[in-house]
Amino acid sequence: MSLAVALTRASEGVAAPLVTVEVHLSGGLPGTSIVGLPEAAVREARDRVRVAIQNTQFEYPNRRVTVNLAPAELPKDGGRFDLAIALGILAAGGQVPREALHGCEFLGELALSGELRPVPGVLPALLRARHGKRCVIVPVENAAEAALLGDVEVRVAHTLADVCAHLRGVEPLPTPDADATCGAVATVPDLADVRGQLQARRALEIAAAGGHHLLMIGPPGTGKSMLAQRLPGILPPLAEAEAIEACAVRSVANEPFDVRDWRQRPYRAPHHTASGVALVGGGSHPRPGEISLAHNGVLFLDELPEFDRHVLEVLREPMESGRIVISRAARSAEFPARFQLVAAMNPCPCGYAGDAGGRCHCSPDAIARYRSRISGPLLDRIDIMVDVPRIPLAELDGARNAGDEDSATVRARVITARGVAMQRAGKPNAALGTREIERDCALGDAERALLQRAMDRLGLSARAYHRVLRVARSIADLAGSARIAREHLAEAIQYRRTGEQS
Ligand SMILES: Nc1ncnc2c1ncn2[C@@H]1O[C@H](COP(=O)(O)OP(=O)(O)OP(=O)(O)O)[C@@H](O)[C@H]1O
Ligand SMILES: [Mg+2]
Repeated sequence: MSLAVALTRASEGVAAPLVTVEVHLSGGLPGTSIVGLPEAAVREARDRVRVAIQNTQFEYPNRRVTVNLAPAELPKDGGRFDLAIALGILAAGGQVPREALHGCEFLGELALSGELRPVPGVLPALLRARHGKRCVIVPVENAAEAALLGDVEVRVAHTLADVCAHLRGVEPLPTPDADATCGAVATVPDLADVRGQLQARRALEIAAAGGHHLLMIGPPGTGKSMLAQRLPGILPPLAEAEAIEACAVRSVANEPFDVRDWRQRPYRAPHHTASGVALVGGGSHPRPGEISLAHNGVLFLDELPEFDRHVLEVLREPMESGRIVISRAARSAEFPARFQLVAAMNPCPCGYAGDAGGRCHCSPDAIARYRSRISGPLLDRIDIMVDVPRIPLAELDGARNAGDEDSATVRARVITARGVAMQRAGKPNAALGTREIERDCALGDAERALLQRAMDRLGLSARAYHRVLRVARSIADLAGSARIAREHLAEAIQYRRTGEQS
């Protein structure tokens, strides 16, 4: 019987469902058909595969070739199945041993020369393959990504001929070079560069400790963008599982990624002209957007009011749920999107409202319009709001002031506080659920009365109430205090004023 089977994987969101490629050779008019409702891209695979096989000094069967990709309803886009199809054809014709294909999965697009081209979504495929205990063969250009998981057998290949030599037992393929993955950490800017702004530094530290969303408001050129860029440098490193999740998203987005910094938290700073699709994801083959690329890391929206209002509204849901579902007519995909939002804005259109220089000439109307570009519900989800005012020249000049700590110093405190939270609840404080808040953020009578008064005075929502408690928890953790004391709560409340009061 001239039937052969080769396994490969599709790419669907961050999932990687198994695809079985069945190849049957039969008599009749020579020709090749690919069934299983493949899209145009897979039909093109037919031509690539034929030429690649011929250029690899094998014979393309002079018979009727039927290729079936199963299951039929999966997305089958791109050339990622080329290698599996080519091997299936060769195995069906007896040019490589059929049994040798059984314990393997194959990923890779073929160039006409028979060389293998890299494909997106290798890491998600490996994560799945790990359960099947099969060896995965990938293009050499995907090697760095493939080496991230220690517990999956991976082999890398340059060409179709290499893979065939491996399967015939002539020359085994090499494993990816593990050294590639544990190099130096890429450098990020240091907090020591920022002068003054003690209040904003403090807010940044609390946000880092608990993973809270942060909004910085101030006139131009006071260090808002500088501070935001320095957040990744004080965040705790990613745990392996988190790092793999983050890489899996980058892998499906086909984002180039440097394996040297794969344990570093993602930092995404999309420009305010970015489209909705770029920001939240989309497309006919749904792709992750910036909010998913920022998963387990930081999403920095500089000049927040300049973003399209509709796009900002879409952020509301993932900010609470930590994921985004992209629905298209044909299919929907879900991507993780647990990001920490850091936003910066000026207080008014000219940027100088509230500044001592008296330079602001914006009308109250204009200011109100500017602020209303950010909706109440979005502001309600921001845990910490902080002013970043102009600093006196004396602070900017000369030597570093006592408060100008470097990132390493701040990061050590953040890691300790985050460790406490992880021990207590297994998650950062920003992710605490209502029950966990009741358990871990219990208040004394005096503190409860203080919070009650603040809620009345600031008109806080129930959500804001919970958010204040989460922030207070982080402040107490930084202070090494088991219970939330009055001063911790008072500080947390103070970060809740909305922009109108500045
Ligand atoms: N606190 C500061 N310490 C040291 N340098 C600063 C500080 N604030 C601003 N600068 C200098 O000003 C430049 C601009 O700062 P930054 O881009 O952070 O301003 P911004 O607050 O984001 O302004 P805008 O509202 O216009 O975006 C920095 O590159 C730095 O040279
Ligand atoms: Mg800026």
